Amino acid sequence: MKKFLCLFCLLLLLSACAHKANETLFYQLGGREGLSKIVTSFITNIGKDKQILPYFFDAKISRFRNQIYDHLCDITDGPCHYNGDSMIDIHTGMNINESDFNRLVDLLYKSMDEQHIPHPIQNKLIGRLAPLRSTIIYI
Ligand code: HEM
Repeated sequence: MKKFLCLFCLLLLLSACAHKANETLFYQLGGREGLSKIVTSFITNIGKDKQILPYFFDAKISRFRNQIYDHLCDITDGPCHYNGDSMIDIHTGMNINESDFNRLVDLLYKSMDEQHIPHPIQNKLIGRLAPLRSTIIYI
């Protein structure tokens, strides 16, 4: 009986954890596969954008891909830990202005549209990025 109770508690705990993981924004964006596809679309869209592309001329895209994935995974409560440089350290000296920031956000929206992410979920991700604005523009 004691064994049965322990097993029952364990199962209860596991299902609670699974339920929590299912509620994360990371999960709502499609988990690893979904987020990876969004990042691919995002990089493709940056590559086609006259306003944003020049910023990336000297960037190593494979590194950017991994780092932006980890960053987005981390801030959406996914199973990742972003351990790259701070937003300030990365973007200082790039002279990014408000219009550039807004344009990049538009490209992210476009990328999520392409991956059929529902609009309320898209807004949740942008809502998590918005507070970073002051650590990226005019620095
Ligand atoms: C909330 C908005 C943003 C976030 C979360 C973000 C995040 C990041 C991250 C995680 C990296 C990778 C850093 C690394 O390689 O270690 C990165 C690199 C970069 N970001 Fe941003 N970024 C944002 C906005 C912008 C904007 C608006 C621009 C320019 C218009 C920009 C231009 C760049 C460039 C050019 C790099 C590559 C730097 C390099 O490899 O030399 N970012 N960003």
